[in-house]
Amino acid sequence: TFVVTENCIKCKYTDCVEVCPVDCFHEGPNFLVIDPEECIDCTLCEPECPVEAIVSEDDLSEDQQHFLKLNEELSAEWPVITEIKDPPADAKEWEDVPDKLKHLER
Ligand code: SF4
Ligand code: F3S
Repeated sequence: TFVVTENCIKCKYTDCVEVCPVDCFHEGPNFLVIDPEECIDCTLCEPECPVEAIVSEDDLSEDQQHFLKLNEELSAEWPVITEIKDPPADAKEWEDVPDKLKHLER
């Protein structure tokens, strides 16, 4: 499966959602997640993210491992998103900011 990681938080560009053939993206207030049960590993979404937040499960670094569980957990709670929408107005300012997990809204 592919996993949405920290850099998506407060950026949420949503370019990723339109290419997914199996609609596995779910949207929260300031982050998206992939449903690992639905993802077919097609790889299409990975290059779409302008902040490189989408990572294959196999390529997760040690400190990104916990995002797999988080994607699984939140995809069960959040609704599916299939269409691109405008990112937050301040998305650019949040690109590559470290430790964004504390800003995750549920
Ligand atoms: Fe969807 Fe393919 Fe990305 Fe999985 S790898 S989330 S199936 S676009
Ligand atoms: Fe997030 Fe990147 Fe998609 S910022 S919403 S994973 S395009």
